[in-house]
Amino acid sequence: MPGTKTLTIIKPGAVSHEYIGPILKIINDHGFHISAMRLLRLTRKQVENFYAVHNEKPFYNGLVEFMSSGPVVVAILEKKNAVIEYRRLIGHTDPSKAEPGTIRKMFAESVERNAVHGSDSDENAEFECDFFFSRSERFSLFDPLHF
Ligand code: CMP
Repeated sequence: MPGTKTLTIIKPGAVSHEYIGPILKIINDHGFHISAMRLLRLTRKQVENFYAVHNEKPFYNGLVEFMSSGPVVVAILEKKNAVIEYRRLIGHTDPSKAEPGTIRKMFAESVERNAVHGSDSDENAEFECDFFFSRSERFSLFDPLHF
């Protein structure tokens, strides 16, 4: 179903602070269905490929370093207008500018270590979900075989 999924990454800083559970609870409490999920450590190569659109940015090297520094949780989240709704829930990229009650306001340390990633468009959500999950690893609300 178009427009109903987004990819999140709970980043190494949040994982090391034991924020996986609290963040997943907020995600569920806001009506997102988790249709795929994995805990893994990304290689530098995976991070470089995942964030290739930023490879000219001054923060790119630091981003690759940080995102490959420890385990992360990757998950596909489903909801109507998932990309927009999840970006609203996570808040501004820079936690000092994020609204109270947003995930980044509550759990991020800085713009570089900002707790979670969320896809920024439906097109990127498709790319990012495919980057991590095969069809057989997804348990979609919109698949009558599963629900
Ligand atoms: P994310 O949503 O994962 O997408 C790209 C990441 O790059 C972003 O979160 C931030 O962690 C990081 N980022 C974006 N802008 C900056 C910036 N100005 N300085 C440092 N890191 C940034």
